[in-house]
Amino acid sequence: MSTILVTGGAGFIGGAFVRRLIADSDARIVNLDKLTYAGNLESLAGVMESPRHVFALGDIGDAALVGRLFSEHRPDAVVHFAAESHVDRSITSPESFVRTNVLGTCTLLAAALEYWESLSGERRAAFRFVHVSTDEVYGSLGPDGYFTESTPHAPNSPYAASKAAADHFARAYHHTYGLPVVTTNCSNNYGPYQFPEKLVPLMILNAVEGKPLPVYGKGDNVRDWLHVDDHVAALRQVLDRGQPGEVYNIGGREEKQNLDVVRTICAAVDELRPDLPHRPCEKLIEFVTDRPGHDFRYAIDCTKIERELGWRPQHDFPTGIRDTVAWYLANEDWVAGVSTGRYQRERLGLRQQPHSPHPESRIPNAAPQASSPQPPIPVPIAGVEFRPLRPHADARGWLIELFRHDELDERLHPAMAYVSETLPGVARGPHEHVEQTDLFAFFGPGDFRVTLWDGRPDSPTHGAKVVRTVGATQPMAVVVPPGVVHAYENVSEVPGWVFNAPNRLYAGWGRKEAVDEIRHEDDATSPFRLESK
Ligand SMILES: NC(=O)c1ccc[n+]([C@@H]2O[C@H](COP(=O)([O-])OP(=O)(O)OC[C@H]3O[C@@H](n4cnc5c(N)ncnc54)[C@H](O)[C@@H]3O)[C@@H](O)[C@H]2O)c1
Repeated sequence: MSTILVTGGAGFIGGAFVRRLIADSDARIVNLDKLTYAGNLESLAGVMESPRHVFALGDIGDAALVGRLFSEHRPDAVVHFAAESHVDRSITSPESFVRTNVLGTCTLLAAALEYWESLSGERRAAFRFVHVSTDEVYGSLGPDGYFTESTPHAPNSPYAASKAAADHFARAYHHTYGLPVVTTNCSNNYGPYQFPEKLVPLMILNAVEGKPLPVYGKGDNVRDWLHVDDHVAALRQVLDRGQPGEVYNIGGREEKQNLDVVRTICAAVDELRPDLPHRPCEKLIEFVTDRPGHDFRYAIDCTKIERELGWRPQHDFPTGIRDTVAWYLANEDWVAGVSTGRYQRERLGLRQQPHSPHPESRIPNAAPQASSPQPPIPVPIAGVEFRPLRPHADARGWLIELFRHDELDERLHPAMAYVSETLPGVARGPHEHVEQTDLFAFFGPGDFRVTLWDGRPDSPTHGAKVVRTVGATQPMAVVVPPGVVHAYENVSEVPGWVFNAPNRLYAGWGRKEAVDEIRHEDDATSPFRLESK
């Protein structure tokens, strides 16, 4: 049984890859994902329970975490999907694209190299690092011609620039150090579980709701389209048979103008939802100001992967789109679950003036919408829970509903609640309680590295340790039962807030209750150690 370290496996393509491998191979998947707005554990339903799937919440740029995943799980391959992936967002805020796509990829490559150099014999020869990239790195084509693997990179958007930089580092790690990197450059994907800000799901959902279908410019920009399952099949071939140092272009041979894509979606919605009063949905198309720097045409020559690895796309575009529309119609719960955050299908990618007052700053109060509870993230300590928090957001800002009394089991009913501030670089703890259960919430400002260690001798997970980064970038509630040693450290640049609702009243500030706290920081005999940054 092989072990594959997948990054970004809670996203659109990574999720499809993980679901497929769990379903029809015996591979063990270690899935490292930061769960940004684009990553959703709901996309991994049926996989989270598999003993062959280990979910690791974290950032590919966290060198300590990535190094630990390599040494603990000793993977046979890496398939690197994790990225900031939306061109429009990259126009509004390029920095996060540099951080994840460039620096994060470099951190991952460095950790992979250190690990690969520690291997020997067959394991070393068989190891692969598959770097998943895009055709957007090649820039824009005129009406003719195709991107081949030797087309020079000429990225035009901040997204494409960050992916191109990552491609160059991946190439350099092979050329300079011999790391067996294989790079793929693929065209636009479509299919189930794609976050609703991308063209295909956005058009499907707006068409169903009778909302405008915004088409950039004249809608004549051309893209090549590939069903996500075909991309996954191609990546499996590359993983099994791709040659180190090689690049493989992946495409669907389905060049379409954006307007035709939207029309195909409208036709499928009309057919599958004959009850919609606003049919035909094409009437909803509205032409809007073009995206700044919008590339005119992308087209992929995928002869190499067809010839050398025997891969061919299996889905044709009209059928694939119809199936995708049917999937979105049948999976409204998934759409609702992933849409409760900040993104509400508004237009992204127009540059904004800093500090301009929000046009909707005086909209009236509205009751928070109901959100589907997020599944807890599995952690290897009995009784500890990590529950992702998702803000309700509208034009005024956000609100997190931490818990409802009747949804918490009795052991968690709070006796009190408080908020504390922790300065950058400061660590709180480590300590444990004899009777008290803590219910922490980390939602920002600030990011915290939380460390937990099971000190209960009678626990089935005695000695297990968990280290996770939570807070502004990944809002999280954490339940810590008595006997579990815990500490948290503000790893961000800003003072951070922590909310706690323990099930027992604190002693102190003149109160007489017995102190329920065993401290570990000055105890040389304690087996608990807080890792430094
Ligand atoms: N969608 C396409 O059409 C397309 C086409 C070609 C190539 N690609 C490439 O494929 C990859 C996956 O694309 P996608 O459409 O599935 O993207 P996506 O945005 O749906 O998913 C990205 C995933 O990466 C995770 N992530 C983001 N930053 C992270 C970080 N710092 N650390 C750990 N995890 C992080 C997110 O939580 C999310 O789960 C990307 O590298 C993208 O450039 C996408």
